[in-house]
Amino acid sequence: SRADALPRDLEGLRVVVSAGGTREPLDPVRYLGNRSSGKQGYALARTAAQRGADVTLVAAHTVALPDPTGVRLVHAGTAEQLRDAVHEASADADVVVMAAAVADFRPASKADHKIKKTDRDPDPVTLVRNPDILAELVAKRRDGQTIVGFAAETGDSGADVLDHARAKLKRKGCDLLVVNAVGEGKAFEVEENSGWLLSATGDERPITLGSKSQMATEVWDAIHTLRDR
Ligand code: CTP
Ligand code: CA
Repeated sequence: SRADALPRDLEGLRVVVSAGGTREPLDPVRYLGNRSSGKQGYALARTAAQRGADVTLVAAHTVALPDPTGVRLVHAGTAEQLRDAVHEASADADVVVMAAAVADFRPASKADHKIKKTDRDPDPVTLVRNPDILAELVAKRRDGQTIVGFAAETGDSGADVLDHARAKLKRKGCDLLVVNAVGEGKAFEVEENSGWLLSATGDERPITLGSKSQMATEVWDAIHTLRDR
């Protein structure tokens, strides 16, 4: 099988990967969500397990994906549930990879019953901030723990993708940031399918974002190199 061809270089490593997009409920049948497919996080979990790691995958909402073989799978719906599951799983983890698309905000309250349409205009939805799980992980990082963040960035008039990404790496304080340059319209199309790996030690290198498992391999190679030093 393909797994036999992979190095077992992550043997003995305890790894947590979060994946997918959180859903923040408005009422029992509605939520605020995002378009994350979860595919990248699943590929990261699968690749780590194939390379010998002990893997816990904390999955928010994803498209239909097969459960990765040999991986502990924990489901989490909201950002707060994901936070609890990630913290519990990472207490004794060597590597935590936050590939999940965590909602920055959630509705201030969840209605107990389905919100009904009336003749009046609807009430506005009040949002409150969700906890920043990555920042919390960094704040309580244990010795020897490697923390990896993800960022999808576009350039704008003030700064390009790399400027934004370098600032985010500093702000977040994680060891590695996987940066996906996302295009917006034709002018940016050339940036699609490109990315960088930025490390807190100052290393910056381009990565191939073509296939999710190719990218997973590059991310684990970088984590392995970082931890070997
Ligand atoms: N993240 C998190 N908790 C949140 C939001 C984000 O742990 N509440 C993690 C993501 O899983 C990702 C990293 O932080 O690994 C960066 O997420 P991103 O949305 O790019 O960063 P933000 O700080 O939320 O900045 P932005 O304003 O660009 O959304
Ligand atoms: Ca965000």
